[in-house]
This record gives sequence, C-alpha cells and structure tokens, in this order.
Amino acid sequence: MPGLEQKKIVLGVSGSIAAYKSVFLLRLLVKAGADVKVIMTKSATMFVSPLTFATLSKHDVLTDIASEEAWNNHVELGLWADLILIAPATAQTIAKMANGLCDNLLTATVLSAKCPIMVSPAMDLDMWHHPSTQRNIEQLITDGVRFIPVGHGELASGLVGDGRLEEPENILEYCKAFFEGENSPLAGKKVLITLGPTVEKIDAVRYISNHSTGKMGAAIIVALINRGAEVTAICGPIDANIILPPEVNVLPVLSADDMYARSIEVYKKGVDIAIFAAAVADYKVQNTSEQKIKKTDDNLSIELTPNPDIAFELGKIKSTKTIHLGFALETNDGMDNAKSKLSKKNFDLVALNHPGADTGFKADTNKVTLLGKDSKVDDIPKSSKKVIAEYIIRRLESFFQ
Ligand code: C5P
Repeated sequence: MPGLEQKKIVLGVSGSIAAYKSVFLLRLLVKAGADVKVIMTKSATMFVSPLTFATLSKHDVLTDIASEEAWNNHVELGLWADLILIAPATAQTIAKMANGLCDNLLTATVLSAKCPIMVSPAMDLDMWHHPSTQRNIEQLITDGVRFIPVGHGELASGLVGDGRLEEPENILEYCKAFFEGENSPLAGKKVLITLGPTVEKIDAVRYISNHSTGKMGAAIIVALINRGAEVTAICGPIDANIILPPEVNVLPVLSADDMYARSIEVYKKGVDIAIFAAAVADYKVQNTSEQKIKKTDDNLSIELTPNPDIAFELGKIKSTKTIHLGFALETNDGMDNAKSKLSKKNFDLVALNHPGADTGFKADTNKVTLLGKDSKVDDIPKSSKKVIAEYIIRRLESFFQ
C-alpha cells in the first residue's frame, strides 16, 4: 500500500472516544510509507495509551510542552512535518486552533507549523451543529486548514447524526490525495463546474426545483482544489451545510438560463475541464407571473418550455483539448443511456449514478459507473461521495498524463 514514502506526518490525537480509530489510521499511514510522530492531548491519553502509538510509530509519543527532564520543541516539530494531521479533532481542539490558543503541545505545534494542516473532526451531533463549532470550522478553512468532512451515523452517545470521525481508510485517501496534489497534472488547470439544483420561477413566491443538494459537485471541487486546480463553480442553491473551499470562485445562480449564461461567459474565457454536475431543470415556466397567482376552485395549468441544455451547448463549441465530464442519473437502461449521452453531449467521460435508497441526490454515499469515450468502464463500489470524487479525479488526471 505505497503512496506516502518519505512523507513526514505529525499525527495529532485529541480527546475523543474516536481516538481508538487513530491507532488504525497510524498503521495505515506507516504501511503507506510515512514517518509519523504522534502528539496526544492530555485527554486523548485517557482513551488510548501513548504506548500503543509509540510502538506502532516507532517514535516517542509527545504529550507535554515540557516535563521535568525535557522541553519538547514544538517549533522543530512544526518544521519537521510535511503535514500535520489532526484526527480526531475535538470541538475543543478546533476551537483552540480557530482562536490561536496554544496551551498544549499539539496546539502550540499547529501555531508554529510551516506545513499544511488537515483536521478530521469527531464529536457528538449537537456539538458539531453548534453555531460556534461551525464558525470555528469556517475560520479554519479561511485560514487555509484542510478539512475532512465528518461522517453521518451512530455516535458514541448512542444518537445518530453528523459528527463521526471519517473512516481511517478514507482519511488515508485524503492524505494521499493531498500529497499527489503537489504534482498532479490537474495543478493549474482551469476548471468550470456546474452544481446544485436550478430554481425555475412560477410567480412572485413559487418555483419549480429538485432535490439536488450539490454534495457530489462539492466533493469534486474539494478534490480539485487539493490538486491545485483553479475552479470556477456555477452554483445553484446548494444545501446550506455544504462549505465550499475558500479557493473556489463561486458564481451563484438560480435558474437554468442564469446557469447557462454564466457558464458560457466562463467557458469562453478558456477552460481545460468542464464538469456538469448540476441537476438542471429540463423545463422552465413559459409565462411567469410577477404577482402571486391567486387560488381559485379551478384547475391550474402551467405551460412549461424546455431549458437550454448547458452540457450540450458547450459540447458543440468544445475544442479537442478540453475535457468534458457529465453525469447521468438513470432508473433504467443506465449503460445505454449513458453511452448515448456521451456522444450526444460530446462528453469525454460520463459518471452514471445508480439511484437507490442510500445513493443518489440527498445521500452521502453513491454508486457510480464511469464510462469513457474510449469505452473504458470503471465500476466504483458504493462509497462516500468524497471517495467517489477521488476516483473521478484520478480518471480525469489520466486525460492529461
Ligand atoms: O439529459 P440529462 O439531463 O440526463 O443529462 C445530464 C447531464 O447533462 C448532466 O451532466 C447535467 O449537468 C447536464 N445538463 C445540463 N443542462 C441541462 C440538462 C442537463 O448541463 N439543461
């Protein structure tokens, strides 16, 4: 399991019950070739013994800024590391980091670090959704800290919700993607991506839309940013919980017409890759009303007229050097429909979604088949949208190698 040879990683472990997962994470990092030094906060040592981490990392585990015998040089540690990875990052550690506090070895090392920092939070759902935690996370993202989204599921409290530590295997993927980003062929590439639903006005207060949350598009954006791409996102009204990385140029739109106009504008300035992840409404209302339509006892008919097909229109003016990736959500004859979309819309790659109970629009997981115009097919197992984004990005990279 190579991928992190000669990489020096400080693994910060703070005091969450999820600290036991960091033991697995450490093993994966070491197996992948990384040299890992572990810093634990005091409360983390109550969950897992430092001896476990010391044995697996083959380094002393550091917990204190100073002891009777020694002073642990946090500045040196910060300079030694190629990456500081904090997993699990508790609400407390995140709050300290967001405010520049440095009352323990881990936060002091973070404050003196010159290398990138990645946090993988873990906490109970109410702590996670608390406005102060969300504010702190936003602050850290603004400060350039890379953030691994939390998972959804059963929590230590017995409650079910957001706040689970991402699985160690996925955290490893994020680390690899981060280091690959340093020499990815996507670095510096200009990418246009459409995402989210569109909103088609009916009258002053009503509209037609769909259940798209923008999660898949957002996961692709994070993966692109990690590889150093320059991303412009033409973004319908995505779920309010989705935080896009600060490096993205976000152009918010509502209707398919707006999305089309903005996309053409950006596309004509020159892009290397266009990704069509938006769930664009196929139809808009023919005659919208500026006034609220009054209720009567009669049936009401609304005439719909087709929207522009953004992918199709941009496909017509595409150069051979530009790569287009489209999505297909099909309930039947998936492969045939994906194939016909590939040629009709001039896509180089189609990601075919297989909608199901826990895949598709609102889910955190997805089941996708990638179909290239070279007829190469990749069946991606059901995975989190973040992991699927990594598969998609790797396939996109192959076009530039
Ligand atoms: O034809 P269908 O809607 O299934 O095609 C899906 C693909 O085309 C997606 O990549 C979607 O973003 C894109 N599309 C578009 N403009 C539309 C409809 C779909 O860009 N009006």
